Amino acid sequence: MTRAMFEDLNTPDDLFTYRLGALLSAEHDSLNMLQDLQGQVLRDDVRQIFAHHEVETRGQIANVERCFDLLGKEIDDAPSPTTRGLAEEANALLRKADPTLCDQVALGEGLETEHYEIAAYTTLIDTADAMGMAEVCELLRANLREEQEAAGRLEAATHALTHVSAA
Ligand SMILES: [Fe+2]
Ligand SMILES: [Fe+2]
Repeated sequence: MTRAMFEDLNTPDDLFTYRLGALLSAEHDSLNMLQDLQGQVLRDDVRQIFAHHEVETRGQIANVERCFDLLGKEIDDAPSPTTRGLAEEANALLRKADPTLCDQVALGEGLETEHYEIAAYTTLIDTADAMGMAEVCELLRANLREEQEAAGRLEAATHALTHVSAA
């Protein structure tokens, strides 16, 4: 949906809702990227990491939508140019890269997306906590934990792969 940017944001509550909507878009971008990358990687263990996080991401989307309910607001997405850009970058790099490099590319792009999500959740949790929105906070914290675990798995796989290929 289109709407004028900025003019609706007058209060911390407006900002929180806008960011929650941007995060909802980011999660949908992330879901698409996780599906795309599973079709591009060569190693089963790498594919498994993306497949596992795809399932988690579906739950995260439901959690974010539940946050809108708890706030008494309509589910409303907002632009997320960063995650769209990360997905475009992943596609561009995968087109350029030799097939032997594609797992490394996919892991790197996946890790960048996780770190973006971690930052976005961290900001929202801080605001939700300050506003005393306990249930919203709990849902966002559950998502954050999954992002951190996913980042850890991607980091370990990247490390294993780059150290083998550099040897
Ligand atoms: Fe996510
Ligand atoms: Fe994620």
